[in-house]
Amino acid sequence: MSGSWGTLRQFQILVAVYDEGSVTRAAEKLFLSQPSVTMQLNKLQDTLGIVLTYPQGRQIKFTEAGKMVVEHARRLLTDYYDLGRRVTLLKGIEQGGLSLGLVTTAKYFIPYMVGEFLQQYPSIEFQFNLGNRQQIIERIGEDIDDFYVFSHPPKDKELATVPMLKNRLVAIAPIGHRFVGRDSVSLAEFCQEPMLMREAGSGTRLSIEQFCQSRGIELNVRMTIESNEAIKHTVMSGLGLSIVSEHVLSHGGSQGVAQINVEGLDISSRWYMVYRQSRPLSAVAQAFLQSAQAVS
Ligand code: PGA
Repeated sequence: MSGSWGTLRQFQILVAVYDEGSVTRAAEKLFLSQPSVTMQLNKLQDTLGIVLTYPQGRQIKFTEAGKMVVEHARRLLTDYYDLGRRVTLLKGIEQGGLSLGLVTTAKYFIPYMVGEFLQQYPSIEFQFNLGNRQQIIERIGEDIDDFYVFSHPPKDKELATVPMLKNRLVAIAPIGHRFVGRDSVSLAEFCQEPMLMREAGSGTRLSIEQFCQSRGIELNVRMTIESNEAIKHTVMSGLGLSIVSEHVLSHGGSQGVAQINVEGLDISSRWYMVYRQSRPLSAVAQAFLQSAQAVS
């Protein structure tokens, strides 16, 4: 960059001379010869048309104008270096890929979050790896993915957890069931109905079991089903009721089932983006983490 206000290099030299208090030390710091530092300083003074420095014995002193120029030059250089860092980061981001380990229920909202991220960084390649809570814990153990999404992250000091949105569980029944449309259904009535439950290892099941234990109630479990989608279809077919994350019903997912209002059925947790603290975060990973932090 050049112009009537001096070049970035000249400003860099000026700041170095000010900080070091000597032309010799500034030259050493910048790997330049002493005469070229002096020449650049003189050129800068000529260009600006004001006196910036003056000799005092063997020392170099700065005029008031010189100090003012140093202050501005320092800001200019900070901005310039910052720009360099951002461009490097952006280049890194645009070339990267990200692997996510998702508990099955996270598949209902993570794609929308990733979609927003991709609007900003369209060339990132994502990979979604799905499993129930237990299977995703195993993936963490093997250090496979960049990030993991849970509502019940395992307790481990090695893991960082970033809270995101709420995960509320809701009761569902087939359309046409006698509970549908009622203002409320008692917990006791609900517990007698045949219940479709997620498999052992599922985070949803864990939430339900913890709730039942805390209330001293027992559900009438009729079937164990390993997927939210299969649960919905089994509910639709009239084989029982179930409790699922409200995300399972979002984005058009409530077709064929209805939410019922069960008194005191109050089960909610939160989603977390989880990563191993020991895994170095790539530029892409850092940007993605920032976007996850905004989803709360
Ligand atoms: P799940 O996970 O798909 O294993 O039930 C959901 C959760 O962690 O809440």
